[in-house]
Amino acid sequence: MRVVEVTAYGGPEVLRMARRPEPEAGAEPGKVRVRLKAAGVNQADLRIRAGRYADSVGPLKPPFVLGTDFAGKLLDAAPGMPVGTRVGGFVPWFEMLTGDGTYAETIWADPEWLAVIPDEVDFTVAASLPLASATAQQGLDRLALPAGATVLVTGASAVVGRLAVQYASAAGLRVVAVAHEGDEPELRVLGADHVVPRGVPADVVAKVLAGDPDGVDGVFDGGIFGEALLPVVKDGGAFAAIAPDRVPAAERGIRVETVRAVPDAARLAESLRKVAARELVTRVADVMPLEEVAEAHRRAEAGHRPGRIVLMI
Ligand SMILES: NC(=O)c1ccc[n+]([C@@H]2O[C@H](COP(=O)([O-])OP(=O)(O)OC[C@H]3O[C@@H](n4cnc5c(N)ncnc54)[C@H](OP(=O)(O)O)[C@@H]3O)[C@@H](O)[C@H]2O)c1
Repeated sequence: MRVVEVTAYGGPEVLRMARRPEPEAGAEPGKVRVRLKAAGVNQADLRIRAGRYADSVGPLKPPFVLGTDFAGKLLDAAPGMPVGTRVGGFVPWFEMLTGDGTYAETIWADPEWLAVIPDEVDFTVAASLPLASATAQQGLDRLALPAGATVLVTGASAVVGRLAVQYASAAGLRVVAVAHEGDEPELRVLGADHVVPRGVPADVVAKVLAGDPDGVDGVFDGGIFGEALLPVVKDGGAFAAIAPDRVPAAERGIRVETVRAVPDAARLAESLRKVAARELVTRVADVMPLEEVAEAHRRAEAGHRPGRIVLMI
């Protein structure tokens, strides 16, 4: 089967098409094979490829296969899902550390990772959702804010932040979003009550405090501002950090939570149903063939426009 290998740590040019043996039925007890149609390109993929997560990746050395998000069809039956079922999910790449990611034609999946993709949802759209929605939901869970509380969502123009705005609004929170200039009208439709333009941390802090002089109850730091944003949090508030290298030290009784998303198939299935019903918006920026993975990484690294870049397999 075709895969993309990281041949050495470095720039996008280290990504190479390669061939690996097609997984054989039953070879991995308890797992099922999924023939992929689409795989998302996540920010973590870029950092792993560049060697920035070499510590977390530990003894795993190139060549390995990147990729967490996937959408495809079952080649083996899973509980309640016959062969051919359209499924999506994400591979907990950092937990497994086998280097068997989703930039591949076929993967082994734990049935517990799998959510059925409704017929109305394209594989490419489905592949944009799993890791991002789990991160947004689990980050908000960890904030544990009551309905009516105010949450600040940074990085609200990006995929994770955009979802966090929607989930927070649906949970009855008042949402302040930090986003790119021009995204305000869309973010208001998605549930933001107040939108602050992104900028250097001091400006963002000043603008948030101008609207909320007492500070906010919690921060979902999708934009990875880190500790520079602590001044906007009320004493005893909460801060959800989603990048392991940008976790603020706690101060003034603020609870700092570090989030690494884990698969949650039931909630993913619910989110996919909401996408089908147009009650949840996820955005695909580009769909590119697997062979163009190096260009996909260049574009993702350039932060060229909002939405997930998805590889078509
Ligand atoms: N802890 C976990 O389990 C977990 C899981 C998934 C992701 N994450 C982290 O969460 C962060 C956000 O991930 P993501 O998937 O949401 O990122 P993303 O959608 O891939 O977007 C990030 C990039 O796109 C740019 N961008 C977004 N909207 C834009 C717009 N309107 N115009 C121009 N550029 C735009 C951003 O620029 P700006 O920076 O300028 O806004 C940024 O460079 C990443 O750091 C990722 O590593 C953590």
